[in-house]
Amino acid sequence: MAVVSQEASTIVIIGATGDLTRRLLFPAIYRLYALSEWPQTQIIGYAVEDWTQEQFLAHIEQNLKQFEHNYDETVWKTLASRISYISGDLTAASLTQLKSKITPSALFYLALPPQLFGDAAEGLGHAGLATETQGWRRLVVEKPFGWDFDSAKALRERIHQYWNEDQVYRIDHFLGKETTQNLLVFRFANRFLEPVWNSNHVRQVQITVGETLGVEGRWRYYDQAGALRDMIQNHLMQLFTLTALDAPSTWDAEVLREHKVEVLRAVRPILPNQVDDFACRGQYNAGSIGGQNVAGYLEEPGIPQDSRTDTFAAVKLYVDNWRWHGTPFYLRSGKRLAARYSEIAIELRDVPPGLFGKSLSNWLIFRMWPDQCIDVVAWAKAPGLQLDTRQIILATPYEKVDEPDYTAYEQLLMEALKGDRAYFLRFDEVEESWRILTPVLQAWSEGQPEPYAAGSQGPAGQERLMIPGHSWRTIGLN
Ligand code: BG6
Repeated sequence: MAVVSQEASTIVIIGATGDLTRRLLFPAIYRLYALSEWPQTQIIGYAVEDWTQEQFLAHIEQNLKQFEHNYDETVWKTLASRISYISGDLTAASLTQLKSKITPSALFYLALPPQLFGDAAEGLGHAGLATETQGWRRLVVEKPFGWDFDSAKALRERIHQYWNEDQVYRIDHFLGKETTQNLLVFRFANRFLEPVWNSNHVRQVQITVGETLGVEGRWRYYDQAGALRDMIQNHLMQLFTLTALDAPSTWDAEVLREHKVEVLRAVRPILPNQVDDFACRGQYNAGSIGGQNVAGYLEEPGIPQDSRTDTFAAVKLYVDNWRWHGTPFYLRSGKRLAARYSEIAIELRDVPPGLFGKSLSNWLIFRMWPDQCIDVVAWAKAPGLQLDTRQIILATPYEKVDEPDYTAYEQLLMEALKGDRAYFLRFDEVEESWRILTPVLQAWSEGQPEPYAAGSQGPAGQERLMIPGHSWRTIGLN
């Protein structure tokens, strides 16, 4: 795998006064720096706010104190000496200011609202900042990439006026999570899984990302996006492709991404008249989570009274290839559910019932939250005089207590600086994912989401996606 070269480089955060920068990017940079992992990279914050350098540094420092438990004044002081701030907008005329401030190799991180990605990429390109002369130039674009199939294509075209596909790093922070990366390692580094990793042996796959949080002040974005765009189209589709892909021959970004796209291409289209059988949406009402009363979505500040936004979305996908034909993949995610709980759960088919007189199946669980763990749910003899079975869990938490654990943003910032694109999305992945979900988005432009109580398992209607004999796992129960 690539290592970060020791040449000097610059990271320019465009949108440096925003939420993503203060909550996730600077804490990630700070931690990498504190762990002596941060390379020879200077940091430039760029945003429209007419702030001085001191104001910007004070803002970052104040947020680090809030978000970083191990905040250390001395570490911050040395890191701060590498940070500068430039105020400007997204026009080429203004972005040109950066030219004399950056090193030949530079990474531009668009920490902006999605509707500004195109303007920023164009402005940078027009200012000549995308041109690689003596070093590399890279562009990191956050999700969602486009709003649907057509707008994603239009955004790609705007970006590609100045940037080659090789320079574009479409980030999905779920690809920086340990459990996501372990999906590949555990699957392909262990021989015993491959023989059963197909529809002959796998009965169903359930991917759940449940949250207890609501919209947390992001209503402007969230009310336009909804759960399908915010979570399923990107994060859950990524978990799905990594679960379903065939083994790549090498750890090469292009090979890996080609295999992911192959999975997406094989997904059976959801026909417009089948949307209700393949997708379900919900919106939370008032309820209670962990003993705390919480307001309904429509009562959240800023949310229009007649909003039809989905705060819960579930889809069923079939992969019509040799490996997976006949195995349903169920994906769901929602806000204000019973628990913060995320997992990829794979159920194997029953063993023949003759021997034990009952149906017995195994689950293999890759859990992301509340702990990072792989559980094998198996059967063993119940101790005693009878020959009886009972369920056991072979639990394998894979992090040791004293190991440093890196957040997704730490992992991905380092990958982008190294120039390793394996954990970034190629355009055709994004495109295929929008293609799969477009009929659902179109159907959901009308009608209403089904209400569910905050603190519950989500809307009852999600059950209609399940084929006979399947039922959703309980969110929050290991
Ligand atoms: C973001 C979504 O991409 O992922 C948020 O926009 C969501 O709505 C978040 O809460 C979940 O990520 P994590 O890492 O906190 O599980």
